[in-house]
Amino acid sequence: MEPLYVTTPIYYANGEPHLGHTYTTIVADTLRRFWCARGRRTFVVTGTDEHGDKIAQAAAAAGVDPKTWVDRISAAFRDTWRAAGLEYDAFVRTTDAHHVAFVRGVLADIHAKGDIYFGSYRGLYCYGCERFYQERELVDGLCPDHRTAPTEIAEENYFFRMGAYQERLAALLDAHPELITPDGYRKEVVALLRDPIGDLCISRPKSRLTWGISLPFDDRYVTYVWFDALLSYVSALDERGLRAELWPHAEHLIAKDILKPHAIYWPTMLMAAGLPSYRRLAVHGYWQMDAGKMSKSVGNVVRPLEMKARYGMDAFRYYLLRDMAFGQDAEFSEAALVARLNGDLANGLGNLASRVLRMQQSYFAGAVQPRAPEPADEALREAFAVARTEIDAHVAEFAFHRALEALWRALDHANKYVTTTAPFTLAKDPARRPRVGAILHELCEALRVTAQLVEPFLPETACRLADLLGLPAERLADLDLAWGAAFPAGHATVAPVALFPRVETPA
Ligand code: MSP
Repeated sequence: MEPLYVTTPIYYANGEPHLGHTYTTIVADTLRRFWCARGRRTFVVTGTDEHGDKIAQAAAAAGVDPKTWVDRISAAFRDTWRAAGLEYDAFVRTTDAHHVAFVRGVLADIHAKGDIYFGSYRGLYCYGCERFYQERELVDGLCPDHRTAPTEIAEENYFFRMGAYQERLAALLDAHPELITPDGYRKEVVALLRDPIGDLCISRPKSRLTWGISLPFDDRYVTYVWFDALLSYVSALDERGLRAELWPHAEHLIAKDILKPHAIYWPTMLMAAGLPSYRRLAVHGYWQMDAGKMSKSVGNVVRPLEMKARYGMDAFRYYLLRDMAFGQDAEFSEAALVARLNGDLANGLGNLASRVLRMQQSYFAGAVQPRAPEPADEALREAFAVARTEIDAHVAEFAFHRALEALWRALDHANKYVTTTAPFTLAKDPARRPRVGAILHELCEALRVTAQLVEPFLPETACRLADLLGLPAERLADLDLAWGAAFPAGHATVAPVALFPRVETPA
């Protein structure tokens, strides 16, 4: 299996992490766990984007110097991911010395090659987006994202000959339609490429902004924040000596807000720098709040650790992965989260685990009994085998909601199997005790496979389920362990505790 290198966006250090950042990071963590469990070398990079106007303004508003500010916010991101159980392999900061030197090196190369030139520019600049807008991109004269009027700026600057790579980019997308997924976003990019993309202004005069990386060939200027930030995907590997091994396998996770920089600026920058293209750009939609944007001023910002405290991290993860179809927008609602928690998690999975383990306790003092498969048992085993195949196919397509749906179909099957085989009725007849033991054995296997399959999505639940089943980590990790081989007769399970306490109303 080829290695996999996954990145999240390098988040702006202008505020603490919220729902949007958390969703992308959860997806990265899920992919990391999923592929590690299947023996694939997986490397995940996340980080903070710490230069530019936006950051300098946030620091000024907080009354501290930019460095103090970015240290604080970058630490808040790392602390949040740790507390939320989100794992990665490297955290890159665009103020790190290695990154700064790397960016300067690439700029010097591209400049020496003649793909960066000096010119004058007049344009409409949105400080929120950190980019110039063309008139036709504005909505009623306002930035479509920030709904503020852009500022007209005229100045001399450095430009990257992006337009010179337009044809090569179009040809690349033509030859590799899988480069941008879901396909709707590829089509958007193809449509953008029908018009000239023009050149990209990649400098800011220090008279306007000093918080950035100085251009190696002109100290009066700093680098445009996107030119700086995008290169972090490579500098993070370069710093660790992993560039040759991993860069050819790069897959970027982003939301649709930053499609253009990733689908147009970045591949052309890579071409100019003589680096291979990334493998895939996987684009998800936006979490909306009350059909609009999350914003501090509206006061509807969702913070991951508040959700964890209220519902548990796994319930929050489940809701986010189950209710967003990757690629499309979704509406965030705590009522919907609670419905998933009470329905799929407490009634579906939690109830199955507690019924099975309770019967195991009361009929056999927790000890697993020998198997004696019957057709109904085969169908149960088959339901989980199908779920595994479907999960693998859906995760490969970033369809996490479908993967969970597939697993929950198997769990429904297991809940129905309990009802139809009725071990609680059979248990009244001492002669049927061996069959009761065999049924419970099948159900313990169903729970063991559930723990394995659910681990990338709900890691904490997987651990708790394994503990209840009395399973050591190796047996949980072995995805290819045959059904029936996990529990030698007499294996001790534990008295159940509720995996997901029900929540009555959203807080
Ligand atoms: N710093 C740039 C990225 C540079 S990457 C080389 C940036 N930072 S950001 O902090 O604004 O993060 C944007 C990303 O955060 C989105 O692409 C997405 O991953 C995530 N989200 C932020 N808000 C979101 C939603 N409301 N919904 C879903 N994800 C969104 O852009």
